[in-house]
Amino acid sequence: MIPDHALVVGSTSDIGAAIVRRLVDMGHSVTAWGRDEERLAALVERHGSEVVCDQVDVTDDDAVIEALERLDRRLGDETELRVVVWAVGVFDWAPADEADPATWGHVFDVNLTAAARLTPRVLVRLRRAATSTLVFIASGAAHRVFANNAAYVASKHGLAALAAATFLDVREAGVRVSVVSPGLVAAGAGLRSPLGQTSPERLLSPDDVAGAVEYVVGFPGHGCPVLVELQPLAQAQGHGR
Ligand SMILES: NC(=O)c1ccc[n+]([C@@H]2O[C@H](COP(=O)([O-])OP(=O)(O)OC[C@H]3O[C@@H](n4cnc5c(N)ncnc54)[C@H](OP(=O)(O)O)[C@@H]3O)[C@@H](O)[C@H]2O)c1
Repeated sequence: MIPDHALVVGSTSDIGAAIVRRLVDMGHSVTAWGRDEERLAALVERHGSEVVCDQVDVTDDDAVIEALERLDRRLGDETELRVVVWAVGVFDWAPADEADPATWGHVFDVNLTAAARLTPRVLVRLRRAATSTLVFIASGAAHRVFANNAAYVASKHGLAALAAATFLDVREAGVRVSVVSPGLVAAGAGLRSPLGQTSPERLLSPDDVAGAVEYVVGFPGHGCPVLVELQPLAQAQGHGR
């Protein structure tokens, strides 16, 4: 059997690193993309030859194309790219009437435009490897709206719509496309939220998100969990993200 390979885009966050870990535990070899050199090196140190890291800024289209070509060369004919997880995301906390337009543009560039540019490029490969899986880490903010967060909310709504519509185009080819939408996670921007600062133990953990990815990737038969929404069991009063 041809061994499975997974690409994790945004593997340098705690969430991304937990997803890499989970995919390795599932028996995948992994290519891990990110920008942070130290965090990429830490992945290699932890996983050894199971993980190959590549420093890629997803807003740099040429860099993305070159990194995919490097991936193809590494995999050769012996290994299929069977899983792609998009876990990149940037935040902006500001009321809309005080927000920095350039920051809003950047939020869209990273969270939505870069994901959209990557999607057809990886689908070509995932179709060849079908049954295969493309997972987008979205957010509760992909399905509901929150104050002081309009660009993030809109970009994540766009990401969820991109995924749902993409699924319609590739389902017959055997490519699963799933949205995993966690509530607040005790990681990254989640830790900067009011609840994250006072009671991080009440948030989801990066491993919870990785568990949802495992559920999607390992889904048996020919179904596709198109949307997995995750909320922590310990739910603080009035906290709904
Ligand atoms: N934390 C939460 O509560 C929460 C809740 C729901 C969903 N999420 C989603 O989970 C994902 C990770 O979020 P996080 O909170 O853990 O944030 P984080 O620690 O700030 O991580 C952000 C990730 O995105 C990558 N990234 C950002 N800009 C990039 C670019 N231009 N090119 C390549 N990579 C880039 C970062 O890589 P480098 O550091 O290497 O640049 C890092 O891996 C995001 O999609 C976020 O929307 C988070």
